[in-house]
Amino acid sequence: MAALTRLDRLSIAELKAEGIWAKHYISAIGLIPLLQKHGAALKGLEIGVCRGENIARFLEECPNIAHIDAVDPFMAYDDPNGGMDQAMMDMFHTLALKNFSAYLGRVTLHRMRSAEFAKTVPDNVYDYLFIDGDHSYEAVRDDIAAWFPKLKSGGLFCGHDVLVKDVQRAIVEFRQSHNITAPVQLCANSVWYWVK
Ligand SMILES: C[S@@+](CC[C@H](N)C(=O)[O-])C[C@H]1O[C@@H](n2cnc3c(N)ncnc32)[C@H](O)[C@@H]1O
Repeated sequence: MAALTRLDRLSIAELKAEGIWAKHYISAIGLIPLLQKHGAALKGLEIGVCRGENIARFLEECPNIAHIDAVDPFMAYDDPNGGMDQAMMDMFHTLALKNFSAYLGRVTLHRMRSAEFAKTVPDNVYDYLFIDGDHSYEAVRDDIAAWFPKLKSGGLFCGHDVLVKDVQRAIVEFRQSHNITAPVQLCANSVWYWVK
């Protein structure tokens, strides 16, 4: 089971009050300069929300993001990065709602599994996707297959934890089976992406 620190239990408002937020770890911090230049009124999706800190930082630093769909079932799970029990997940759900309250209208939290939400979304709607949910091979493989069609041509197809072998395997297999030649690029904190 993952061990939580005191900071893991604080809302962004509390981190700001302690002067920590500006230096706080943010998974996809390296994507922010790309998103800022990616166009106007962007529509994004993040699979795997946790406390919503990555999404909040995107919304704070990218005024050109119009809306983000945030998808997470907040259910206990096991994962190569460390499992979470239900009490932890309920706390993260509460923190995500608190953190998103500063961005009403720009983020919608969908409490469900990514595969379930994917069935409700048409193709070619997002300008970027960030996959950071269940990091098992099967889950990443299924997320990539389900969500790639939902990205517009020219959109940023992104995810976290490229150092996890299961994540690498899912990326490589999908790209090979779909003859994708756009290079995989890396940025801070093990984020991978390519341009569709
Ligand atoms: C590493 S955390 C996400 C961190 C977040 N992206 C950030 O950077 O702030 C992984 C999250 O994935 C969620 N998750 C696990 N299985 C999922 C699934 N099938 N669909 C969507 N989210 C899932 C977990 O509940 C957990 O909150």
